[in-house]
Amino acid sequence: MRDDGGVNVELVVTEDAEAAARAAAVLLVEVAEAGGSVVLAGGSTPRRAYELAAAAHADWGDADLWFGDDRCVPAYDPRSNQLLVRESLLEWLVVEPTVHPIATERPAVEAAAAYDAALQDEPLDLVLLGLGPDGHTASLFPGAATLDVRDRLAVAAEPGLEPFVERVTLTIPALEAGMHVVFLAVGEEKAAAVRRAFADEPSRLTPASLVRSRHGTTTAILDEAAASLLG
Ligand code: 6PG
Repeated sequence: MRDDGGVNVELVVTEDAEAAARAAAVLLVEVAEAGGSVVLAGGSTPRRAYELAAAAHADWGDADLWFGDDRCVPAYDPRSNQLLVRESLLEWLVVEPTVHPIATERPAVEAAAAYDAALQDEPLDLVLLGLGPDGHTASLFPGAATLDVRDRLAVAAEPGLEPFVERVTLTIPALEAGMHVVFLAVGEEKAAAVRRAFADEPSRLTPASLVRSRHGTTTAILDEAAASLLG
C-alpha cells in the first residue's frame, strides 16, 4: 500500500457503471452551473456521464470546457475525443460553454504548443480523467518521457495503446493544477489498474498513480467491479 495508505484519494464506489456515471455527471453539472472550467476525458467510459450531464439541462453558458487529450484524427473521426463530447454533451445543450478545442487537424507538436499557450494561467476547477487497463490516463502512457515534462501544460504524445495515432495530451503539471481531479473507471478489466493507481506505491509504470490534485482534492469514482481488488 502507499505509504500514506492511499488516503490522498477519495474513493467513491458505486454498485454499477450507471451509478458511477451519475456521480460524475453531478460533479460536471455543479462546476458548469458555477461557471467553472472543466477538463473532459476521452475514451468510452465517460460517454454515459456526459449524456446524463446533458440531460440535467444545466446552464453551461458561463463555463469553460477543455480536453485532457485527443487523438490527432479529423473532427468527424469516431476515434476523436472531441467528437465524443460533441455528440454526447454539447449537441444537447441549449447554451454551450466556451469550448477550447485541441487543433487535431494540425501536426501534434503544433497542436500541443497551441494548447500549452492557451492553457497558461487558466484555472482548472474540475479535471475528469479515465484510466486505461495499463494504468495510463489522458494520453500519458507507462514509462513515457511525457511523464517527466514539467515545463509545458500540453505535449504531443505517441500512443501506448490503441488507437495507435498521435495524440495531444495535458501533462502531469496541467492535470495536477485541477482543484478537483476525478478519475472515472468501471468494469473488472480496470480492477488491476485501479489498485496500482490508487492503492499501490506511485510508479511511472502506472501514470494515473502520479496524478493527484496539487492544491485540491482527488477522487476516484469506481463501480464495484473496478474497485474489486482494492481490498
Ligand atoms: C483516450 C483517453 C484515455 C481513456 C482511457 C480509458 O484518449 O484514450 O483519454 O485516457 O480515458 O484509455 O478509456 P476507456 O474509457 O475507453 O476504457
